Order: sequence, then C-alpha cells, then structure tokens
Amino acid sequence: MKTIRYELADGIATLTFDEPDSPVNTMCADWQADLTEATARVMRDAADIKGIILASAKTTFFAGADLKGTMRLKASDAPRVFTEIEQTKKNFRTLETLGVPVVSCINGAALGGGWEVALVGHYRVAVDNPKIQLGLPEITLGLIPGATGITKMTRLLGILGAQPYILESKLFSPREALDLGLVHELVSAEGDVPAALRSAALAWIAANPRPRHPWHEKDYKMPGGTPANPKIAAMLAVAPAMLKQKTRGLYPAPEAALAAMVEGALVDFDTALRIESRYLARLIVSPVAKNMINTFFFNMNAIRGGHSRPKGIQRYIPRRVGILGAGMMGAGIAYMQASRGIATVLEDVSLENAQRGKAYSLKITDPRVERGQMSPLEQKALLDRITATEFPADLKGCDLIIEAVFENRELKAAVTREAEPMLAAGGFFASNTSTLPISGLAKASTRPQRFVGIHFFSPVDKMKLVEIIRGKQTDDETVARAYDYVQALGKLPIVVNDSRGFYTSRTFGTFVMEGAAMLGEGIPAAVIENAAMQVGMPVGPLAVLDETALSLSVHVMDQTRADFAREGRAYEPSPGERLVERMVKEFKRPGRAGGGGFYEYPSGQKKHLWPELKARFEKPTLTWNLQDIKDRLLYRQSVETARCLAEGVLTSVHDANIGSLFGIGFPAWTGGAMQFIYGTGIEAFEQRCASLAATYGKGFELNQVEKDAIRMHQPVY
Ligand SMILES: NC(=O)c1ccc[n+]([C@@H]2O[C@H](COP(=O)([O-])OP(=O)(O)OC[C@H]3O[C@@H](n4cnc5c(N)ncnc54)[C@H](O)[C@@H]3O)[C@@H](O)[C@H]2O)c1
Repeated sequence: MKTIRYELADGIATLTFDEPDSPVNTMCADWQADLTEATARVMRDAADIKGIILASAKTTFFAGADLKGTMRLKASDAPRVFTEIEQTKKNFRTLETLGVPVVSCINGAALGGGWEVALVGHYRVAVDNPKIQLGLPEITLGLIPGATGITKMTRLLGILGAQPYILESKLFSPREALDLGLVHELVSAEGDVPAALRSAALAWIAANPRPRHPWHEKDYKMPGGTPANPKIAAMLAVAPAMLKQKTRGLYPAPEAALAAMVEGALVDFDTALRIESRYLARLIVSPVAKNMINTFFFNMNAIRGGHSRPKGIQRYIPRRVGILGAGMMGAGIAYMQASRGIATVLEDVSLENAQRGKAYSLKITDPRVERGQMSPLEQKALLDRITATEFPADLKGCDLIIEAVFENRELKAAVTREAEPMLAAGGFFASNTSTLPISGLAKASTRPQRFVGIHFFSPVDKMKLVEIIRGKQTDDETVARAYDYVQALGKLPIVVNDSRGFYTSRTFGTFVMEGAAMLGEGIPAAVIENAAMQVGMPVGPLAVLDETALSLSVHVMDQTRADFAREGRAYEPSPGERLVERMVKEFKRPGRAGGGGFYEYPSGQKKHLWPELKARFEKPTLTWNLQDIKDRLLYRQSVETARCLAEGVLTSVHDANIGSLFGIGFPAWTGGAMQFIYGTGIEAFEQRCASLAATYGKGFELNQVEKDAIRMHQPVY
C-alpha cells in the first residue's frame, strides 16, 4: 500500500493515512485501491482485532477528493466514478459493521471527503483547536458530499438540522462539532497530541466492545422527523422553489444535494448511499463542477499562495498606514485597516470630514457590539487605532500612504506631492483611483518606482477583491508590498498592468455598455435586465449604470475623448456609450443619485423602469433572440478579458477568473471570465464569437493574438 499504513498490535488495527509526496491526504486512485486492500487485511485479521483506529500522519486529518483527478474526468467517466464511489462506501461499511469499535483520531482539518472518512468512526475524537476546520464544503465546488456525507449527516442532524452543513457548506470547529454531537471527545491541543488522541481512542475501545452507528440502533429516529412528518413535508413543499430562486437553475449541486437528502431519508441506509452516489457521479463530470473547482480551488489557492506576487521579496507587515480623503472609500479602508490591527491616520481637508470618516467605523461596529459579537473594549481599541486629522504632517512616519480623494488628476497630483515627503524611509505611495492610469498619476511622485495602484471596491468592508495596478515604473518590491498589504486586510489581491480602466472597470464597462447598446437596438429594457439575471449576473446592466451614475460614464468618456485628442487620435464611442450620452445630455437622466436614469425611484416605493424608455427606444417590430441576448452579456466580457491577457494587462488566468468573479460579479457557475471560455471549449467559444460578431459587431471579434493568448494560458491538469 502506498497511502495507508496498516499495523496490528495488541488487538488494535491502526490505519494511518500518509499519502507520499503530498502535504495532505486525498481520495486519489491509489488511496481508493489501498483502502480496499486495508479493508481486506482487516477482514483477514478479524479474529484478532478488538478495535480499529483511523489516524493521519499529516498535520491535517484528511483533505478530501483528489481535485486534480476530478478535473481530468470526461462525461463518459460517470459510470466508472459511480463504481469507485460505491467501492469506497463498501469499504467504509465493512469497517463500520465488523462488530468492533472504530475510532477516528481527528488531529487536524477534515473537509469534504475527509470529514466523510472521519464519519466512519463510531467514536470521533478531535483536537480542541478552534483553527481546525471540519465539514462539507463540496457545494462551493459544484459537488455534493456523496461519499456518505449526505446520508450520515442527515441521519445525525435531521433534514432541517443538516441543511446548513450540506446545502450552505457551513464549516464547524471541533468544539462546535462536540456541541452538535458530531464529535464525541476533545483532547488538548497542548503536549503530545497524537498520544492523547490514541489514548482516548484506546480507552473508548476498551469500554465499548460492540458499538453501532445510531442509525443502526433499533430505536433510531431521524431528528426532527422524516419527510412523512407534516412539519417537514410542509417545508419540503416550498424548499425546491426557494432553492431555485437562489440558484436560478444555474447550480445543479445544491438541488442534487437536497434531493439526495430527502430521497435518502425515505429509504434504508444502503439505498440512501446508492442514491447519493448516483447524484455525485453525474455532477462530478459536469462542466459546472469543473468550472467551480478550477476557480474556487485552484485559482483561489494561486491567489492565496502569491502566484502573482513578485518572488524573492521579504514579507511586508503594514504597521502604520495613512489615508488621504475620508470619503466613502477612505472611511471604508480605514475601518478595514483598524479591524486588522493596523495603526491608521485618516486625513481630509477638515477635521470634521476626517471625523465623519472615522465615525463610519463606529457605525459598522455598533450592531456587532449590540449583538454581543464584539466587546465595547474591542470596539474602542479599533476606533483608537484611527487618528482623524486635517494636518498632512500627522502622516509622518507612515510606511504606506493611500490617496482616496476625488477622482481628479490635478488634485491627486497635489496631494501626492504634499503627502509623499511624510512617508517613513523606504515607504511607498498608492492611489485608489478607479479610472485614471497609474503611470500618469505617478508623474507627481518623486519616486514613481514606489508608486502603485491599490484599487478597492465599494463597499470596502464587503468586497473581497482588491486590484493592484503596476504602473510603468512601479518596481517589484512595491507590487509585492501592496500584495502583502491587501492580504493583511484579509482580501484577495489580483495584479494587473496599467491600462485605461485596468482590468475590472474595463471589462465591467463592456457588460453595461452591451446592455445599453441592446436598448438602443430596440430590445425592451425588461428583457435585457432579466436576461442578465437569468445568466447569473447579480444585477442587470441598466440597473448598474443607474447605481454608478450614467453621468460618471459620460464624464469618463469626455475625459477619454480629451486624452485621445491630445494624442492626436479620434475617440469613437460604442453604440452603448452613445445611448448613455443621450440619456444624460438629451433626456437629463443622470442616474439614481441624480433623480433617475433607466429607472424611476419613487420615494418609499420599489424602483421601476422609466416608462419613457418604451416610447424612445423600443422597436415593436423587432424580433429578438433571448439566447443571443444572454450570450452577448457574457461573451462580451470574456472577449474583453482575453484581450486584456493578449495585451498584457492581465498576466494570468487566475487573476482574470478571480477578478471577474469578485470584482464584477461574473457568474460563479462559469468559473470566471476565462474559465467560461475553457469550459465552453475554445473552438466552440470562437465559433460563437464569430457568429455574434457577424450580427452584433466588432466587440465580439477575436484576432489571432487574442486567440493565441487564450490557448497559451489554458490550464492543464
Ligand atoms: N466610490 C466608488 O465606488 C469607488 C470605487 C473604487 C475607487 N474609487 C475611487 O476612490 C477615490 C475616492 O472616492 P470616494 O467615492 O471615496 O469619494 P468621496 O467623494 O466620497 O470622498 C473623497 C474625499 O476626499 C476628500 N478630499 C478632497 N480633497 C482633499 C485633499 N486635498 N486632501 C484630503 N482629502 C481631500 C473629500 O473631502 C472627500 O471626503 C476616487 O479616486 C474614486 O475614483 C471609488
């Protein structure tokens, strides 16, 4: 055996999981074969065995499915996967029903398949360390806990009780597991942990020679009742509809999980396991699962592991960071910093403004204090970390200063010149601009190599993504330090090169402008908005344009026009941009903040589409194709992303995927704007683009350099 050590001594059979050349244990093909072999040995030695211990030789217990292997599966592999899952379950069942106690010694994280391995034990002992994560995160990867997880958790917690842990992938610590009855004993995290786990296991084995899982006991009743219980039945009548409202039919995994829970609860244990296997085998080879595993596992690990961070540069720990401008963004950044223990100087033109910015941290934390999630002392400490001031001199000694003043080049240049001398020796300067090219802003700096873009999204405390923009002269050390700063805030950094709109704003712009263009073609606004929702975007393009202000888009357009003119070029606005310009200049509809845009906002009522849109834009004779509308909204963004890769604005697929998901709300089922291309299939994507380009214009045209970039960056598993 390669991945499991089998030892029999003093009547105790120990199976120690220890996958070679891997930091963690996974359910790889070798492990599956080894489990069959280990189970056979247990059967052979049965007469001498008084108890079985499951243990890990790694720092974690067991990581779960072999996701690289999963990425290589084809649709035709489903029957083989079904047989393999069934074989693994058969091994689990053999060990559990041998008639001797089985104990799982959970020394570290047990996630997904790892938690399902832990559930083999009749008795589960875990280390009392709040950092250890246990549970079933499969749904977040487009999979279901189909290696006994659904069946056992439903039988342990009931249909209602198990839902958060299966359908919402809620994880739990060992102590929470103890409270839920999912773990039976905790051992201290201090001292010789493996010895403590083993001695707890041996003691329990000695005291419980013939244990059974609860669902095998004669008097077993499912907690909360089976689907036959009227209360459960009433809930189940609406549950699928509620789920569909959330998934919009785009995410098959939660629907399959709910079905497996309920169907499994109606039949005997073995049949329930088989139902689960069938759903899993179908899902695991599906495109959505691959898209989600690619991005939420592999791309996310690349971001966390610093793949886009320049190498060989010492880790930077932010200690004292200054912020210029205590408006919406500055106040949010100040809160994030203070909540992570970073001393913060928040400067604005008046003390009153600065204090208003600081008060935002009070507003955010007050409800937490009221709910008892934060002590008043902790809140005070957080607020004390923020110094509100009107004097730039108070920024003295900051190792990083971020400007978040109005989006105006001259003003940004002025505050840069004023504040930069306050930096501590070796410190660096950042701009939170959302549109102005960083290399241009860096001209105001005496050290442009230490000038970088750190683009937060609004609201800062909620949005996980931060886009780091490397200007023409920004050096590696500054990019690395910006990366470390963003990670210190617990956020996800992507690194992009300087260009108009960087990556996220530029690509997002294509989405909203495609929506506006369609309106200009005469397609009803409600159709466009609903098509966007149906394809999985969080909001329709017209609603977003209203929120961000149509007037802002026109302002950016005017600025771009002026920039182009200075370079001796003519700026050709897109059909969408022309429509937005008309809305603002001709119809005086600047957006929500300005009183209305594509929507009306009657006070105290729900917003609704501006009725005039119909008369002004809609063409009653026009026939439109819903699939085309949906495709245009997604394909346009993916084409722009491929262009960013081809131009070097983006340098990696993981930055593209994570940036599009967390920065612009590209739908999770696609795995992100580049994975959408790979998931669709490169040739199929290109063909569809060609046909969209023939009807809807250049926005869908891919040139050879872009096609090459798509191929060059395709991930290999
Ligand atoms: N609002 C967003 O969604 C968003 C998202 C990303 C980036 N940004 C960018 O962040 C920056 C700030 O945006 P905001 O929405 O927070 O703006 P805001 O208008 O809410 O705040 C700007 C603040 O800067 C202050 N200010 C002006 N001149 C100053 C000076 N000389 N010294 C110090 N402070 C000064 C103002 O008093 C105001 O409090 C802009 O560059 C914007 O493009 C905004």
